[in-house]
Amino acid sequence: MNTKSLLAVYPGSYDPVTNGHIDIIERGRRLFDRLIIAVLHNPGKRPLFSLDERLEILRELYSGDSNITVESFDGLLIDYAVAREANVIVRGIRYVSDFEYEFQMALMNRRLHPQIETLFMLPSESYSYVSSRLVKEVFQFGGSVKGLVPECVERRLQARPPFMNTSR
Ligand code: PNS
Repeated sequence: MNTKSLLAVYPGSYDPVTNGHIDIIERGRRLFDRLIIAVLHNPGKRPLFSLDERLEILRELYSGDSNITVESFDGLLIDYAVAREANVIVRGIRYVSDFEYEFQMALMNRRLHPQIETLFMLPSESYSYVSSRLVKEVFQFGGSVKGLVPECVERRLQARPPFMNTSR
């Protein structure tokens, strides 16, 4: 019997987390003993939600789950995964167009540290067109994002200063 405990890291910007991410998290948690949702801290980018907000949202969603942890990381993802002694990096693939970049990233990460596998997972087809970027754009121009993001994200979007949704 294989008693090895499997730890997966699911990295991303999560600006904001969408129901597509949630779908992958729900699938991932069934496969792994532990799942770390790793939020990228990239000081070179100006996200809509600050790192603290992104962590807060994810912790709000997963605070009751003993096998899910929410953390931030900076620098190289693979270094972070090694430091956490993860076995697997999980990435969601929506369409073929995602694959090109993900393929390069996975092979680069493997070159840097061959022991860690990248696992591509498919979200439900109902989320295959959902991205954080489109969610922000739709919201910014007054469109509804209901059903595309968790309710707590929708509430936080609505609570943002009006310059973010001037067409409403
Ligand atoms: O949600 P995203 O923006 O698609 O996530 C991309 C992420 C965070 C997984 C990727 O940008 C990343 O791993 N960044 C950390 C820096 C790094 O390791 N770069 C080299 C990748 S081979």
